[in-house]
Amino acid sequence: MTPSTLMHADAPVIHTKLPGPNARRIIADDARLISPSYTRSYPLVAKHGHGCMIEDVDGNQFLDFSAGIAVTSTGHCHPEVVAAIQKQAAELLHMSGTDFYYPQMTELAERLSKIAPMPGPHRVYYGNSGAEAVEAAMKLARYHTKRQYIIAFYGAFHGRTMGALSLTCSKAQQRRRFAPLVPGVVHVPYPNLYRRPAGTDAEQYARDTARHIEDWVFRTEVPPEECAAIVVEAFQGEGGYLPAPPAFMQELRRICDKHGILLIVDEVQSGMGRTGKWWAVEHTGVEPDMITIAKGIASGLPLSALVTRAEIMDWTPGSHASTFGGNPVAIAAAMATIDILEREGMENAHKVGEHILTRTHDWAQRLPLVGDIRGRGLMIGIEFVSDKVAKTAATEQRDLVVEAAFEKGLLVLGAGPNTLRLSPPLIVTKHQADIALDILEESIQQVASGKYKRPSWSE
Ligand SMILES: Cc1ncc(COP(=O)(O)O)c(C=O)c1O
Repeated sequence: MTPSTLMHADAPVIHTKLPGPNARRIIADDARLISPSYTRSYPLVAKHGHGCMIEDVDGNQFLDFSAGIAVTSTGHCHPEVVAAIQKQAAELLHMSGTDFYYPQMTELAERLSKIAPMPGPHRVYYGNSGAEAVEAAMKLARYHTKRQYIIAFYGAFHGRTMGALSLTCSKAQQRRRFAPLVPGVVHVPYPNLYRRPAGTDAEQYARDTARHIEDWVFRTEVPPEECAAIVVEAFQGEGGYLPAPPAFMQELRRICDKHGILLIVDEVQSGMGRTGKWWAVEHTGVEPDMITIAKGIASGLPLSALVTRAEIMDWTPGSHASTFGGNPVAIAAAMATIDILEREGMENAHKVGEHILTRTHDWAQRLPLVGDIRGRGLMIGIEFVSDKVAKTAATEQRDLVVEAAFEKGLLVLGAGPNTLRLSPPLIVTKHQADIALDILEESIQQVASGKYKRPSWSE
């Protein structure tokens, strides 16, 4: 099997027992050499990537509906992105934007400014990862407002550096034995329409969830004039693929405006066209004060950005910087990525996302274990429950479906305690989506009927 066959493939081809012999060797080395803190759901050892296909070190071909955790927005190794990287790599690899100037930083800033979800003028800060963009947002919020408190949400994931981790509230293991974290962070509930109390109106529930901040937090814990920012995902990612209802976001905006608080929207996972618009927040009719961007921005090269209303970014030289942030090669990849997303990726995300939601609209009624399917564009979550009335989380069954899909050559990941996420590259075709859904449906049926036999690697 060669990468050229990968280029024309649509469907998985698994010709070894998984993991194959080469994969097994690398996984053994990994177990000896690499930090055991990583969470691998299954033994995929990637070698080549093209479009939505990944070939492993044994020549097995997988259909990738994870996009390397929502990163390879234009697909793996898009030729235009690769060409842009190669060209830039031959011209200038690095010259640290913290101490010198180069044109790529302003060129990308102009493009991000054009597509930002709030009116300009804007300013842009560059980092290398989502967590770094979030750290910058936290620090800037405190710097600009001279206030210390920050409100974030249960289920949120904003990264794992100490500041970002203080906002993250997704899994206790992510925080275990790292305390004390950055003080001044308060967590409040995030809406989950599927799990709202029976008989409540969806919009009222969404509004009331946001009002908890005024009704409880500001009354009992945080004086609002000491609150710098509310940090929110407009589509909660790691917490379980939950789209924020517009009424919830609008209420947050109202609260922020009333008390002079900054609204920071984390678009690290939901941004760059994944939801069919540049930003998930655009589905809610709300204009944020800052957004954080990473993952899909550069199709796989490490780059992140914090984009703010210009007047907010008022910190002075020396306040914040990063040696590698805004690397010219990563920016070249980002410029090519934006071209592709603008031309076709974002519209395709909308179209194929609609196709998936249409094809799966009756899964919650028709298929066992499926409680809810929700999403925007190509950010789609399938929530698994063992009892559809009690909505009992079916975490183990969700994990088995992820595993069974892998065995059939489909790469998907979990999100939250009992949701499976679909986050393919934005250039995925309807045909590939159909193949993925066929595999998923078969996997769900097998797990639900008890016919799924676990492979030896998972025991
Ligand atoms: C919404 C959100 N913010 C921040 C991060 C952290 O990004 P990184 O892993 O690049 O630090 C993630 C990662 O999953 C994310 O989903």
